[in-house]
Amino acid sequence: MPSARRFARLDQLIASLGYGSRRDVEGFLRQGRVQTAGGGKLSSDLRIDPDLITFDGEPLDHPNGILVLLNKPVGYVCSHNEEEGKTVYELLPERWRKREPQVVTVGRLDKDTSGLLLLTDRHDLVHRLTSPKHHVDKVYEADLDRPLSTDAIEIFKSGTLVLKGENKPCLPAHLEILSDKKARITLQEGRYHQVRRMFAAVGNHVVGLQRLQFGHLDLSGVAEGQFKHLSIDSFTTQK
Ligand code: URA
Repeated sequence: MPSARRFARLDQLIASLGYGSRRDVEGFLRQGRVQTAGGGKLSSDLRIDPDLITFDGEPLDHPNGILVLLNKPVGYVCSHNEEEGKTVYELLPERWRKREPQVVTVGRLDKDTSGLLLLTDRHDLVHRLTSPKHHVDKVYEADLDRPLSTDAIEIFKSGTLVLKGENKPCLPAHLEILSDKKARITLQEGRYHQVRRMFAAVGNHVVGLQRLQFGHLDLSGVAEGQFKHLSIDSFTTQK
């Protein structure tokens, strides 16, 4: 799906990318900060291909949308509400906080969970990437409080495990015991605190949790607290 920005007025386009208000954009146009390759006169109501525009001599900041893979550190919340603490959005460029549509997380990781988190302003992608119907595997590594019994493997695989306060069983999940108190779990769902609650349901307690993979994506090359851009097309063209 092409970005709706392709058909927007120039002032709406530039404002929606977080450069400033539409009124600010009027000023940027007067100051000559917005240019087109052809050097033609630009007005606020012009509808033009965003790829032909520069701002301060640079191409516009991802006019077709943003999709990034962040290596989330522990201690950051997946929320826009700064009253909840440090937010994952603080790890992204400041201008993105003013983009419209808003940059959002694709699902959530708890404050105490680290690892792979996707963020995007392409809201059409969020459902596609989070719905269990699309069978996207999420792989987590959990550190546990006490030794894990091998019974948990069958229980997680059974598709009958019902979490406290719910009545619909979890979809089957794959559990690999890595050592006494360390396990890797692969899920296709993303219920609230799901991994912690699944281990609680078998009498254990998660003391550390990291998401290692999301579908075919992993954390390689992305240091903690850093992010990398992903190609939106590779997701929008997949079934
Ligand atoms: N499951 C959890 O319990 N927490 C997360 O952050 C992700 C999955």
